[in-house]
Amino acid sequence: MLACLCLFGLRVDVWLVYVTVFGDTKLPDKNGNFSMASSLKTNKSEKRPSGNFSMPRTECDILSCPNLKAFTFSELKNATRNFRPDSLIGEGGFGYVYKGWIDEHTLEAARPGVGMVIAVKKLKPEGFQGHKEWLSEVNYLGQLHHPNLVKLIGFCLDGENRLLVYEYMPKGSLENHLFRRGARPLPWALRIKVAIGAARGLSFLHEAEQQVIYRDFKASNILLDSEFNAKLSDFGLAKAGPTGDRTHVSTQVMGTRGYAAPEYLATGRLTAKCDVYSFGVVLLELLSGRRAVDKTRVGAEQNLVDWAKPYLGDRRKLFRIMDIKLEGQYPQKGAYMVAILALQCISEAKVRPSMSEVLSALEQLPPPRDPTSPSNSDPQVIYSPHVKSPMRPNSPHLKSHLRNNYDSPVNMSPRSPLPPHMKSPILKSPRGRCFSSQLVTSV
Ligand SMILES: Nc1ncnc2c1ncn2[C@@H]1O[C@H](COP(=O)(O)OP(=O)(O)O)[C@@H](O)[C@H]1O
Ligand SMILES: [Mg+2]
Repeated sequence: MLACLCLFGLRVDVWLVYVTVFGDTKLPDKNGNFSMASSLKTNKSEKRPSGNFSMPRTECDILSCPNLKAFTFSELKNATRNFRPDSLIGEGGFGYVYKGWIDEHTLEAARPGVGMVIAVKKLKPEGFQGHKEWLSEVNYLGQLHHPNLVKLIGFCLDGENRLLVYEYMPKGSLENHLFRRGARPLPWALRIKVAIGAARGLSFLHEAEQQVIYRDFKASNILLDSEFNAKLSDFGLAKAGPTGDRTHVSTQVMGTRGYAAPEYLATGRLTAKCDVYSFGVVLLELLSGRRAVDKTRVGAEQNLVDWAKPYLGDRRKLFRIMDIKLEGQYPQKGAYMVAILALQCISEAKVRPSMSEVLSALEQLPPPRDPTSPSNSDPQVIYSPHVKSPMRPNSPHLKSHLRNNYDSPVNMSPRSPLPPHMKSPILKSPRGRCFSSQLVTSV
């Protein structure tokens, strides 16, 4: 029964939801001409969201966002060829995602192949269970704009239908690239590029004047554009961070098994450090090519954190957890630095680095060598017990850890029309994300 209580779907007050919102933010271009380029360097001039984001807003306020188009259901039916199964590009815990086309100027439905490509998420037909998450996405993505957040173009609220319209991300999700059977292995340099992009997105949220906690950071929520720039999508569980003297926000425990921080699972107390833990789990997925939770494996190997942790701080053993699909094509030093960073992220909350520290550590990784250069014919760095860290971490605890150590495409449900290799074993509940029976005061 308690497990049921944590399902958003059983809440009856969804129509009266008040959610925390953002104020003075940089907003998406109404024509849908979003900036797609996101270099690996931080854009210092990037606008941070500012204003009083903790002011409650009504559903009516949220839906009247001038930067978003309110689509009718029939418009989106036309844009996706009536949600044809062959337009289906993904599925998460909340909805099916279809590819569609709209005119880039008028934003009206266009013929397939003409105009701007969009992704349309249609909430699963389970009454109004996903309404709160749907509204949360409209609220957050309608007002936050950053090269590493997916752009929301509009929404549809039509009878019982709830849909969201996003820019289309041609390379799909990180999950597909890492775990889909038959996917071309993601080279090391692209793994690092994706990690940096995702870290930028999270840092942006955490450093907002009113902090935003993403709460569902995982490989399937990291989408990739044509150049493998990472963008966070799926703001259904995002939450305004604590304000004033508060250290945390108390929430119903929501998230995805294997990615959620243990202290959050135990207490329902949400902090930005919970996102840092999830980021650490994704770093482990990038290193190992294994899922956060993999029920097809035996014993301790089912949980990536439990399995990988003993190898992360030992440079000589690290190769044992590295993704065999990399075929050894990664710099040992860089891999070790990422492993140490992951270890810090999954450690106790109080010693976890902040996302900006994680980002700066990733940005300081040595650039991948050119394998064609004669001096780099062997891309592997030979183990040296006295190698110095080129990571230059800002965080004192990262520094001390390094000093000590260097001196020595898609979650699917059973009825999904997508092929089985795209199904995720992670999501267990029908809603996909709620996995704890703990119910803490919802804020
Ligand atoms: N804008 C997009 N472009 C391309 N694929 C997308 C897009 N949005 C979602 N997808 C695909 O659909 C999947 C589920 O989307 P998501 O927003 O995470 O849904 P849910 O809220 O149900 O978890 C993603 O993992 C991805 O594979
Ligand atoms: Mg998702």
